[in-house]
Amino acid sequence: MTNDIILTGDRPTGQLHIGHFVGALQRRVEMQNSGKYKSFIMIADAQALTDNADNPGKVRDNVLQVALDNLAVGIDPDKSTYFIQSTIPELTELTFFYSNLVTLARLQRNPTVKSEIQNNREKFGASVPVGFLTYPISQAADITAFNATVVPVGEDQLPVIEQTQEIVQKFNNTYGETLVMPRGVLAENENARRLPGIDGNAKMGKSLGNVINLGDSADVIATRIKTMYTDPTHLRVEDPGHTENNPVFTYLSVFAKPEHFAAFLPEYANYAELATHYERGGLGDVKVKKFLNEVMQETLRPIRERRETLARDPGEVMEILRQGSIKAREVAAETMARVKKAMKLDYFG
Ligand code: TRP
Repeated sequence: MTNDIILTGDRPTGQLHIGHFVGALQRRVEMQNSGKYKSFIMIADAQALTDNADNPGKVRDNVLQVALDNLAVGIDPDKSTYFIQSTIPELTELTFFYSNLVTLARLQRNPTVKSEIQNNREKFGASVPVGFLTYPISQAADITAFNATVVPVGEDQLPVIEQTQEIVQKFNNTYGETLVMPRGVLAENENARRLPGIDGNAKMGKSLGNVINLGDSADVIATRIKTMYTDPTHLRVEDPGHTENNPVFTYLSVFAKPEHFAAFLPEYANYAELATHYERGGLGDVKVKKFLNEVMQETLRPIRERRETLARDPGEVMEILRQGSIKAREVAAETMARVKKAMKLDYFG
């Protein structure tokens, strides 16, 4: 055990996909299983509502979907505290107090929020909800309520963590050393940090329609891979190919293990050999995609099977979250008491 505490979470706005898997979930499970950390994993339903206020049914349904995804990849409620954000009222209380320590200009400059507003142009128009603009403050509450030192996130979330760090600094300077300073950590594999979409778009996203979901059937996976974007200049098998900006190769570099080569493509020992041959020319896309399909089927089958088993008993999944939420609330309440004391709001002892 180190003294590190992990807090991380997902917005329940849709099923999780392989981009989430390599960008966050795998690392989350590894860290949980290392036994070195205390870990809190949160379903950020309140944060999801900041840009889905008109669609509570969607958020509600996806709480279960996201829980199934996490449990299926190996989140273990005996090792991690798995809970629902909105069940912890202290998080909104902290948000209210932290909002005095953040300027409007700083929020408007936050690169994550800026690009998310940009991406939601059609939905928001000129009317960005206050709750959305200020979600980094609420995220600072999430992180600090559990005294998190380590926050595993995707690359796009780093500016939000930076803003949390500023809030912690400001709080501690103003009211005395109270909050724990967190740091963000990324997935290790360069390519894995942001998995491109199957269409070659730099980002995989539900709204872009270029995802492979963790719960997708074997048929859907196979079809998705068949339609994947590859090197458009690689017209004949003999032509030299490009592995850069070629999502088929990016996925292989992330998912293909030596045992996959041994089982399905033994003429190559590893990714480097395959990529070299493609770049030299003489290796066809159909063969490469067929191999990628084997790799993805092998990787996703056990996850899908666990997911299906869990999905048969949603009551059991909700019970896991209920118990996790009770445990999480105790920790948040302790932090709340310290915060109120530091802010001289501890009126009645
Ligand atoms: N904003 C995160 C996301 O995009 C979700 C989230 C909410 C989160 N609260 C958090 C992540 C706290 C890490 C820590 O998906």
